[in-house]
Amino acid sequence: MRCQCDFHGRGLLISWKWMEPMKLDKRCQGFRLPLLIGIVFFILINIAISIVAAQSQSSANEKLTGNWAVRMPNQDGTFRSTYFNLKQEGQKITGYIRSTQFYYQITEGTGGPEGFTLIGTMKDGNTERRARYEGKLVGDELHVSTRRRPEAPPTEMVAHRAPEGEGAMPARIAPPAPHKVRDNGLARTPPMGWNSWNKFAGRIDDATVRSIADAMASNGMKEAGYLYINIDDTWEGGRDAKGNILTNKKFPDMKALADYVHSKGLKLGIYSSPGPNTCAGYEGSYGHEEQDARTYAAWGIDYLKYDWCGARILYTDAEMPAIYQKMGDALLATGRPIVYSLCQYGRQDVWKWGADVGGNLWRTTGDIRDAWDSMSGIGFRQNELAQWATPGHWNDPDMLEIGNGGMTETEYKTHMSLWSILAAPLLAGNDLRSMSPAILEILTNREVIAINQDRDGKQGKQVWKSGEQEVWTRQLSGGALAVAFFNRSPEAAKMSVHWTDVGVTGPARLRDLWLHQDIAWPGPEYSTMVPGHGVVLLRASRP
Ligand code: GLA
Repeated sequence: MRCQCDFHGRGLLISWKWMEPMKLDKRCQGFRLPLLIGIVFFILINIAISIVAAQSQSSANEKLTGNWAVRMPNQDGTFRSTYFNLKQEGQKITGYIRSTQFYYQITEGTGGPEGFTLIGTMKDGNTERRARYEGKLVGDELHVSTRRRPEAPPTEMVAHRAPEGEGAMPARIAPPAPHKVRDNGLARTPPMGWNSWNKFAGRIDDATVRSIADAMASNGMKEAGYLYINIDDTWEGGRDAKGNILTNKKFPDMKALADYVHSKGLKLGIYSSPGPNTCAGYEGSYGHEEQDARTYAAWGIDYLKYDWCGARILYTDAEMPAIYQKMGDALLATGRPIVYSLCQYGRQDVWKWGADVGGNLWRTTGDIRDAWDSMSGIGFRQNELAQWATPGHWNDPDMLEIGNGGMTETEYKTHMSLWSILAAPLLAGNDLRSMSPAILEILTNREVIAINQDRDGKQGKQVWKSGEQEVWTRQLSGGALAVAFFNRSPEAAKMSVHWTDVGVTGPARLRDLWLHQDIAWPGPEYSTMVPGHGVVLLRASRP
């Protein structure tokens, strides 16, 4: 009979070949008590080690769990906030990321405090947006980086723990039942004015708006028909205790600013979103539509651009009409004439319902850039929408880039001509205080503006095309016709048409609206040289 004790790795395996004490070997008996104590002690140590290991493992698991906030200050006293609401289980991380107007569910989250990757996805209409964040825990801070575009340098941010619930998506308010909003009677011709976004983006402030108004009132633009001075995104502060929208530091007194703009014989426009946040991440009108409309009216606002962006986290594209209707009603209820501009990038065939929700104009495309490809791509794509433009209700292919420096003067003349043929709003987007005489002349060409502002409000269409050359015409009041010869090629081209092919019958009075010259009737055919990316714009009327 022998006593045998084997150790296996960290665990202990003991095999006593004897199970009955009666049969215990005498030599083993003296050894029995200390051995038992040793075994118990060993087991306890092992249990303790396992508990500590399990505890440290579970606290590593939880280290990323919680609500983390990044607050990046803007220059105006507001913050851009990003929230990481994380739940870590082992190497798996779930939760959501809310970055200004974006709300991503984490669909792939892996790693731990030493390094993690989060991939968030969100539905945006018919498309899916994705964002990728990488980070690690450093002390009690979450160091995170992301790229806005794959080729962009990484944006680094530091998140701190925030109370649970802060930054959570607000509860969804059900869209109202649809009804037709009464026509406000405004914008019988396409709105003309200026908007801050294309040139100033987030750098717009009270002083700049005033000086732009001064420029517009004194440089001939006002006399040419430009009327609205529109402040785009980034004027917003938070809300006061009663929920009233506040301006941020850049706009100390909106009422005083409106008074100033009005004193110049001009009107003031403003911007908001039906979502909790605007595109630039500022405060939107969500849940405060009537209140905001009343505030705008009290300030003396004359125009509202209402930009979808932040609403996509709460509503589908199919719900857009109801959501826009809500603000349409709210603006009407103020009793103040306020032009209503829908900005939802032409989704959901907005031209079919924009007027019914009270809209005076609706964007038909994504954002324009100050580049030929962007401008011409947008402008020449508008052909199919012509039937939806009527006095008071306009297709809006976005604001002008004329004078912002990314195109030639020839291209800017094409921009101005095309927008006039399209009966598009003429909202200058450049710095009116410092433009060249040539740019001012393009913006204030009254003969071209007369095409844009024609009271019949019929949007023009393409009537002829040969390779990169196109002729577009627009029917004008009194039976006249605007005829635009566009050359989309970078090389100059000779364009030749039979008048009948472009809808001009019989001899007509012809006038070149850029040369400001009458043209003698050339007979049934017409040829003209058109510069690369250029235009020859004529008005044909009864002799
Ligand atoms: C969107 C709009 C732009 C501009 C910005 C402001 O991108 O389409 O015209 O208003 O938002 O954030």
